[in-house]
Amino acid sequence: MRKIMPPYRIKVVEPIKWNTREEREQIIKKAYYCTGFLKAEDIPINFETDSGTSAMSQDQWAGMMQGDESYFCCKNWYHLEKSIKDFTGYQYVLAAHQGRAAENIVCSCLIGKQGGVSPANAHFGTTEVHSRRLGVEPINLYSEEALDTQINKDFKGNIDLNKLEDMIKKVGAKNIPFLNMVLTNNFTAGQPVSMANLRAASELARKNGIKVVIDSARVAENAFFIKQREPGYQGKSIREICREIYTYGDLMHMSAKKGALVNMGGLIATNDKDLYERMGAMLIQFDGYITYGGLSGRDIEALAIGLNEGLEYDYLNHRIGQVKLFGDLLRKYGVPIYEPPGGHGIYVDALKAFPHIPKEEFTAQALAIQTYIESGVMGIENPSSLGWSRTDPETGKLMPPPFELVRYAVPRRVYTDSQIEYAAEGIKAAMDLGEKVKGFRIKWVPKNEFLRIFQYRLERLT
Ligand code: F0G
Repeated sequence: MRKIMPPYRIKVVEPIKWNTREEREQIIKKAYYCTGFLKAEDIPINFETDSGTSAMSQDQWAGMMQGDESYFCCKNWYHLEKSIKDFTGYQYVLAAHQGRAAENIVCSCLIGKQGGVSPANAHFGTTEVHSRRLGVEPINLYSEEALDTQINKDFKGNIDLNKLEDMIKKVGAKNIPFLNMVLTNNFTAGQPVSMANLRAASELARKNGIKVVIDSARVAENAFFIKQREPGYQGKSIREICREIYTYGDLMHMSAKKGALVNMGGLIATNDKDLYERMGAMLIQFDGYITYGGLSGRDIEALAIGLNEGLEYDYLNHRIGQVKLFGDLLRKYGVPIYEPPGGHGIYVDALKAFPHIPKEEFTAQALAIQTYIESGVMGIENPSSLGWSRTDPETGKLMPPPFELVRYAVPRRVYTDSQIEYAAEGIKAAMDLGEKVKGFRIKWVPKNEFLRIFQYRLERLT
């Protein structure tokens, strides 16, 4: 029996529209089998992302009524600033309208010249393209165990320390503007990074004068796993663990749309005054003044409150428990999930689910689309050959990422366990169709040298 009960009850409900299977088959065909073109109202159970999809609490909604919409220095800013200082231990704080706006500022201010590399445990897609746009090659230093979807290890989000050391020796520290550590590691199925790995990576980088950046979108979930799994942390609070995490970084940026339980927002914090001042100047140019960064006073208040709620143990225990329940059900049904379940969703190894569809025919997309048709449950191919391949500038060949996964990201405080159970059945129903399910061919992709995610037109192969 599952014992972790939600630490909240539902007060407001959002009706869901249910189409028939036949209707869904037509709807997705008309959207060219592209999740990015599908109307949200046609997706009854939406696991496309955990970003900006959280349900806010009564305190957050009440806080929104306290929004001070003065241009400079609104009172909500001081609440947010204090919350971030307490949470990170960093003294200088900036807001941005969302995570990628923060990343743009961070990457632009840290990358001083073209031609280097930026190592990471695995960059998120937008950080990767910020580096590349600024002339620095992003490199993902996955650990060996991360590349095996079936092996069950505690910290598959770790960076490979040997590869990092070799890279510093090979390219030289002066050609590495920063080390990017993503907690949890979204491109490795939401797997956590251990404190020991972060500490060692940080020591290695700092010894060589390389700054350490902590991508904190899901840092509270990472801290929860550290508390659960890493010796020495059981007695520590999530806040204490986060404070230790930030001692190993020089700067944090965060998409607040995930763990901070708001629908929009981003953050930057650091103890480096000079860097803060340079970032602030850029923020004013692109996002807004240094005390609002593209957010309204009411957004800032909801963020200050949500950030603190997102650090509560009971909330995280239920949250991570719900994702685990989803994974346990899928495993029971024989669906090949990325093991073990991560923090923000379940990732299915599409090549194992549909071995008859080669990745050139977009295996992950075939599973995501079929699940939608069968059940109305929508996940996304992430990462996979369809959205995340890159053209080799020298050979012109497509280079797919090392995984072909469908991500079913679970929004926070939104779906009940019965919807999770239904979703698991939906994925199983799609997988059980086996060879009846065919792959796809690209009809059109936008001309975009950086990212082609969620913008393409596909045709079903027969
Ligand atoms: N960093 C990580 C680890 C992310 O997962 C994301 C977004 C960002 C940065 C960028 O933040 O969306 O606020 O601009 N991830 C979303 C996702 C989109 O679905 O995984 P953003």
